[in-house]
Amino acid sequence: MKKIVTTFILIAVSVFCTAQEPPYIPETDPAVIQKLEQWKDLKFGLLMHWGTYSQWGIVESWSLCSEDEPWCTRKIKNYMDYCRAYTNLKTTFNPTRFDPDKWASAAAAAGMKYVVFTTKHHDGFCMFDTKQTDYKITDAGCPFHLNPKANIAKEVFDSFRKKGLWAGAYFSKPDWHSNDYWAEEWATPNRNVNYDIKKYPERWQRFCACTYNQIEELMSQYGKIDILWLDGGWVSASNNQDINMTAIAGMARKYQPGLIVVDRAVPGKYENYRTPEQQVPSAPPGYPWETCMTMATSWSYVQDDIYKPTNQLIHLLVDIVAKGGNFLLNIGPSPEGELADTAYARLKEIGDWMKINGEAIYKTRPIPPYKNGKTCFTSLPDGTIYLIYLADQNETVMPEFIDVKGFLPLKESGIELLGRKDNLKWVSAGNDLRITIPKDYRNHPPCKHAWAFRVTLNQRKR
Ligand code: GLC
Repeated sequence: MKKIVTTFILIAVSVFCTAQEPPYIPETDPAVIQKLEQWKDLKFGLLMHWGTYSQWGIVESWSLCSEDEPWCTRKIKNYMDYCRAYTNLKTTFNPTRFDPDKWASAAAAAGMKYVVFTTKHHDGFCMFDTKQTDYKITDAGCPFHLNPKANIAKEVFDSFRKKGLWAGAYFSKPDWHSNDYWAEEWATPNRNVNYDIKKYPERWQRFCACTYNQIEELMSQYGKIDILWLDGGWVSASNNQDINMTAIAGMARKYQPGLIVVDRAVPGKYENYRTPEQQVPSAPPGYPWETCMTMATSWSYVQDDIYKPTNQLIHLLVDIVAKGGNFLLNIGPSPEGELADTAYARLKEIGDWMKINGEAIYKTRPIPPYKNGKTCFTSLPDGTIYLIYLADQNETVMPEFIDVKGFLPLKESGIELLGRKDNLKWVSAGNDLRITIPKDYRNHPPCKHAWAFRVTLNQRKR
């Protein structure tokens, strides 16, 4: 009887656990599988939310939505008046200081390897020269259309590619400007399509065609695109808003073989990796994943926004990489087209750290115990293991001993501190490792924020 009860409990627990998170569906296209492996090597990318909303310094798109959420607050009480004013932001958007080469240089120097840029957010404003709508940056009604860099998404992708970064297109499936998604005849109670698509199938088909065409434009006219990052997971077959992802992904990969498709929060074939938002999983999830997170507090530009300290950003990166993920860090450009000085300062400091410690980050794969106390672990296929000690904000002097719990190197291993050359003394104590830090290292660490140790077998010393 006891056995039966135990079995029952075990089954119940496993059902409960799987119910919590739907299974990841592995990719079968060899070109995509290969690309995903390469993507896992990159570790660090830049996400950018930019649109006409940046002029008001408000949250992207969401204030158009009637859901009663704190991020939907409006500065004009009357909803219809508000929507008109918001839509009109197109007529004043003129980011004359837009200089994507400058952004790309700063991102590259920070060690970022890919960019994901908002080609269209939920509000429907296109930051690219689409033929499907005139609600776009290149329309005659938008002052920026005369600028030689008017096709903003193209300029962004070109600049970042020139610096060797991959290009990722953020694209919102929901389009709140489209009369075929939020039809003008009816009120819009929430983020969803505002009519019954079974009753108006042609209307829904028009919306699907527009979505398909816009994605086709992006995939065929904007050079090499590596990632199609689709937001708005409520537009999905399981939520009765089927836009035919099979057709979209098939078309996209005809132009861009091996393209990584991220149909966010829609578990299935087209979610090549998962995207926890503003959080880091407590343990490696065992599938490809990426944390997207704001460098400040908002995805979009907010004046005097508060930026996370460099120490925290580096610790997040290390924690994410140790668990096998990538870090997609977001910065929202200003209405003029600039990044805040603080954002540049953070990128510079992360870059300084990466110059010394990049080998413990890029191309690594997770290794148990992943993270233990203040130490994170990464590894390379050749057997090298890195221990990365997360130093506190004001911990600028190294301790005499670094104790690493639950990890023992092979007897003949050598341990070096990245940024220094000598082999360090180490001993084992039970299951734990103790590294002795020489005095001169202690007072002059090679960097701030986190110290990385390379563990190799001596005979394979570099
Ligand atoms: C959240 C926001 C959305 C933003 C996204 C980025 O879902 O609501 O506006 O684009 O995060 O990950």
